[in-house]
Amino acid sequence: MASRVIPVDPFDLVIFGGTGDLARRKILPGLFRRFQAGQMPDGARIIGAARSELDRAGYQQMIEDAIGEFGGAEKNDAEGLSKFLETLDYTPIDAKGTAGWDTLSSMVRPDVVQAFYFSVAPSLFGDIAARLHSNNIANSKSRIVVEKPFGRDLESAKALNKSLADHFDESQVYRIDHYLGKETVQNLMAVRFGNVLFEPLWNNHYVDHIQITVAETVGVEGRGAYYDRSGAMRDMVQNHLMQLLCLIAMEPPGQFGADEVRDEKLKVIRALQTVEPHHIVRGQYDAGPDGGGYREDAENPKSFTESFIAMKCHINNWRWAGVPFYLRTGKRMKARASEIAVVFKDLGHSIFEGDEKRHRNILAIRLQPNEGMDLQVTIKEPGPGGMRLVDVPLDMTFAEALGDGEHDVSDAYERLIMDVIRGNQTLFMRGDEVEAAWAWTDPLINGWEARNDVPKVYDAGSSGPEDALMLLHRDGRKWREIKG
Ligand code: BG6
Repeated sequence: MASRVIPVDPFDLVIFGGTGDLARRKILPGLFRRFQAGQMPDGARIIGAARSELDRAGYQQMIEDAIGEFGGAEKNDAEGLSKFLETLDYTPIDAKGTAGWDTLSSMVRPDVVQAFYFSVAPSLFGDIAARLHSNNIANSKSRIVVEKPFGRDLESAKALNKSLADHFDESQVYRIDHYLGKETVQNLMAVRFGNVLFEPLWNNHYVDHIQITVAETVGVEGRGAYYDRSGAMRDMVQNHLMQLLCLIAMEPPGQFGADEVRDEKLKVIRALQTVEPHHIVRGQYDAGPDGGGYREDAENPKSFTESFIAMKCHINNWRWAGVPFYLRTGKRMKARASEIAVVFKDLGHSIFEGDEKRHRNILAIRLQPNEGMDLQVTIKEPGPGGMRLVDVPLDMTFAEALGDGEHDVSDAYERLIMDVIRGNQTLFMRGDEVEAAWAWTDPLINGWEARNDVPKVYDAGSSGPEDALMLLHRDGRKWREIKG
């Protein structure tokens, strides 16, 4: 099976914040890999725009260094790299002033796809959107790409949406949640809606509960100032985990179109019940053998911000009534492991004498590492000794299943940027979705702030605080092991 590279139209991609961390780590190395894969058409151009007084050569050098450091793909492709660097240009720009806008205007071509990536602080979104218009750079076909954090509550998200909507139609706005660009996340939809096997069982008649785990080993890694104002709820749950929950729980859309998919996701978010305070466990990591504790990392000795959160959620609709969705995410945990596990109900009655174990089918969809899925099934233990049953996984690791060396699993950013150029919004969050997610999140955060909730301490390198284990234990269930 050869991997298919679908060509895109020539484009001008302007990256505001083009010298920043995200641009150097993710966006430009990702674009270079697309270039190597032959997906960047002749005539495609990338224009960095930022405060630094660099010229074109200086920017090319900066990006060459960044690709050397973060590139990953085909290190020895000097010829490819120098051709890729030729597509780069740069202009210093003052997002809030006048400097640089004339130059940018002369660089951007009106007759190709135009995409403007706002890789800057959200407080600048409105200024940049306004200047793209007042300088006649953007037109009704231009696309803008914005990153999280998209607000820190409903009110600020609404204000951000408005600052963009004043200048751009919703069909032009691409809000990135990089989890939607992950291979397995899209596979979730393929598994659910491309097989006859699972969908009939995908409801409260057959599903006992669902677990969504996103465990990281990293701490706050120099992002303490941002993270301490956010915490795991704003940083991970409101966006990434919410998106996973939507994809696993949504009704089948009529077709795989941007609005059809997003309409269904929105219905899930709106059907989410407010989580009871005793169904939320917040945690903060303590110092471990590999480093300091959260408060040191965040440089806030009195911080009550959570670096871990677990919760039990319910979706109030016909399909999911009564089925708990357990969510957890945390930093400095024992392994980097993210998965969604659909735990089916017990068999109810066993015909096999002496078989007292609770057998249940579990479909585990692994996001990372080792993308793939396994389905736990019950079989007879081989050999003599009667009908002894064992649970074994039917394992499918995507890289092995499709492993012919030609199926590259491209990075989430590469895929999403190419979708922007193609004009496909399916894997981007719509404004009303983001607002609905904040409308659900706000009361939970307000609640624990009003209660002066103190997060539970957990050991770095562990599975999180004891109380998180109890959250399931009380319901007669248990978390799946976090395995890297
Ligand atoms: C980001 C969060 O959105 O996602 C980070 O801000 C987090 O705190 C990261 O580490 C996790 O992404 P991934 O792709 O490594 O799972």
